[in-house]
Amino acid sequence: MPIQIVRNDITKMKVDAIVNAANNSLLGGGGVDGAIHKAAGPKLLAECRTLGGCETGDAKITRGYRLPCRYVIHTVGPVWQGGGSGEREKLISCYKRSLELAKSKRCETVAFPLISSGVYGYPKDEALNVAVGAVSEFLADNDMTVYIVIFDRAAYQIGEKLFKDIKEYIDDRYADEHSDSVSERLRRMNAPSVHTLRENGPVFGAAPMAADYAPAAKAAPQASPKAAAKAISLDDALKQLDESFSEMLLRKIDERGMTDAQCYKKANIDRKLFSKIRSDRHYKPSKPTAIAFAIALELSLSETKEMLEKAGFALSHSSKFDIIIEYFIERGNYNIFEINEALFAFDQALLGA
Ligand code: APR
Repeated sequence: MPIQIVRNDITKMKVDAIVNAANNSLLGGGGVDGAIHKAAGPKLLAECRTLGGCETGDAKITRGYRLPCRYVIHTVGPVWQGGGSGEREKLISCYKRSLELAKSKRCETVAFPLISSGVYGYPKDEALNVAVGAVSEFLADNDMTVYIVIFDRAAYQIGEKLFKDIKEYIDDRYADEHSDSVSERLRRMNAPSVHTLRENGPVFGAAPMAADYAPAAKAAPQASPKAAAKAISLDDALKQLDESFSEMLLRKIDERGMTDAQCYKKANIDRKLFSKIRSDRHYKPSKPTAIAFAIALELSLSETKEMLEKAGFALSHSSKFDIIIEYFIERGNYNIFEINEALFAFDQALLGA
């Protein structure tokens, strides 16, 4: 995934380059600057002395020395003065200049801290928004994996009310396992009920889905002719039952009028993985990848469950991660940033991470 939001100590990241939130002197300091110099050893400072400082919004590059990375890119973020002194533009410039330097050194992986969000006082959630926006813009035209390294929980502050709301939602569901009956599956697909399917007999041989499950599922009342007319045709229903994950994904991209690139970038999935999925109708993605596509396509909860099923997964109420995803989809909130804030607040893995 091109952008990965991870919780870590940046000095531990095994990447081609890490970025340092430095000051104009480039002669070290506290925070991440202090941690990087400490881990790199004295040769880093010796090289920094030769650079002649750095302008705010600009970046300079040195070797990584004792750090598990080849390079350190030193950039100087703006000091937060309330937002009216061009802080945002300067912060965006830090990310852009750092990425240009990384590209010039053919780096394939780069890790950023949240620049300016510590001593320099930039509000953390805004700093994260700027980081994700600036990096996404660069990745639209460049192939690189960029890690945004969150060091402390404060970086993700979700409001008290939202936290309480999600907590209640989890508590209501977390205990019981959640599974859909077949008639629920077919209802979700707007297909005739299992009972109707049996009535009409399978279109081709035994319709494994309906025949296998009919005894288990309570025979739903016969759909009235009018209601049946609204449901998709039996043929389409069976076709959709047999549709693979990849086929459903491509159908949904078309239905949404999106291009492939718009979809996989919004899902934060790299192009190579998408072309694998596209070229193999039986490709089975990981669960986070399937969920990321459901969020990017802004699928309804039932469509999300259906798409997950085609990849061999289900949203389970024994997983807080799944329940939080369900919470946001049910509310029609597909903002991956807000979803990640909530996942982070509940110590769950992040989407795109
Ligand atoms: N790994 C990753 N992130 C870290 C680490 C670490 N080891 N240590 C701190 N951070 C995070 C902080 O939590 C914060 O979110 O880095 C972000 C940036 O905080 P600062 O290091 O304070 O940097 P900044 O706000 O840009 O201020 C720069 O601080 O250290 C001095 O010399 C530096 O004068 C400069 C100023």
